[in-house]
Amino acid sequence: TDRYAVVGNPIAHSLSPRIHAAFATQTGEDIHYEKLLAEKDGFAEFARQFFASGGRGLNVTVPFKLDACEFADALTDRARAAGAVNTLARQQDGSILGDNTDGAGLVADIRDNLGWPLRDKKILLLGAGGAARGALLPLLAENPQQVHIANRTAHKAEKLAAEFSAHGQLTAGGLEDFPGSFDLIINASSASLSDEMPPLPTEIVGPQCNAYDMVYGAEPTPFMRWARSLNAQVADGLGMLVGQAAESFFLWRGVRPNVGPVLEMLRKRSF
Ligand code: ATR
Repeated sequence: TDRYAVVGNPIAHSLSPRIHAAFATQTGEDIHYEKLLAEKDGFAEFARQFFASGGRGLNVTVPFKLDACEFADALTDRARAAGAVNTLARQQDGSILGDNTDGAGLVADIRDNLGWPLRDKKILLLGAGGAARGALLPLLAENPQQVHIANRTAHKAEKLAAEFSAHGQLTAGGLEDFPGSFDLIINASSASLSDEMPPLPTEIVGPQCNAYDMVYGAEPTPFMRWARSLNAQVADGLGMLVGQAAESFFLWRGVRPNVGPVLEMLRKRSF
């Protein structure tokens, strides 16, 4: 049995063990996956011990994604672009590969589970932190007409747009001034975590708009309630969580699990 784990601080409420157990059952892969707590300043030591004792792969969550990026011996292109690692994998030669599956999980959820179109669409990305950064390359790879990054602190959005300008049509600004309305609004800010939402003008919600919040919980977030009140279709980030897990599972095992039934299982429970 190959050993895997998710590491974070806090970690008690992580759904990842349930998700990976369901993937393992579904695909017949013989894995053991647990959740482990690491000290806030002790990630590198934790990871060294985990892999030295035979561990095969780690998922990494708050607050260790930057530590994991430093810990990895090599990075995938998407991990380097994201500047953060949520998946570590021990390679044949014993070296540790760092990947970031969050953006791919987001895009897979939007495109495949929700069936929301991305190609030629006008996309608004809210936030300019780690979550927004990780979403940029996978979103641009879907050939949208435009991605506008809007952030409370405008210069952070502008800096992010400049950094990724070679990869697609990117604009940026603050929360006061938007270039028209959008087909898809993705909330990659952490406002929902504190039950807040960025102050947004209603005009940015286009006709047939879709609104996605990367945060999930038992109740719709303030952003989701706002968007729904303006007749947008809304979704929370639970599908992104399952999507990033599926990408990690694929990296580790070479088998792509079916996310639909696992997402359905999680939706049926309250957590
Ligand atoms: P994450 O890793 O989740 O992206 P982060 O890197 O700390 O977290 O970034 C948080 C993002 O959410 C930032 O873009 C932040 O805006 P600022 O750059 O202006 O700080 C945004 N954010 C957090 N709380 C917010 C709020 N209440 N309203 C609007 N934006 C908020």
